[in-house]
Amino acid sequence: AIDPQFHENREQVDEHKGHAVWGPVDEPDELGIHGTHVAVDFDLCIADGACLEDCPVDVFEWVETPGHPESEEKADPANEAQCIDCMLCVDVCPVDAIDVDAG
Ligand code: SF4
Ligand code: F3S
Ligand code: ZN
Repeated sequence: AIDPQFHENREQVDEHKGHAVWGPVDEPDELGIHGTHVAVDFDLCIADGACLEDCPVDVFEWVETPGHPESEEKADPANEAQCIDCMLCVDVCPVDAIDVDAG
């Protein structure tokens, strides 16, 4: 499962479409965590798609990740600022790849 303490345990190494990327990153095998309020561990995501289907405000968008061992696309929290903290995505992800910091 995604580390809920990733803010402390990882470093922000990059930015992607306006959100943070938390390392380590070593493409294409290791992609890190995308997002801060809505965070997706790209190294855990298997492209199940439940988060995209269920999010009521369309926070997630597919991003291509060719060559990653778990899946060749990931749910990117492209619109994390829209999140209403319903926690649906956290509940439906089969591999617990998502953390929402509802504070
Ligand atoms: Fe969408 Fe709810 Fe997840 Fe926020 S917590 S990203 S609103 S499904
Ligand atoms: Fe990935 Fe979990 Fe969404 S596997 S596509 S983050 S439901
Ligand atoms: Zn991203």
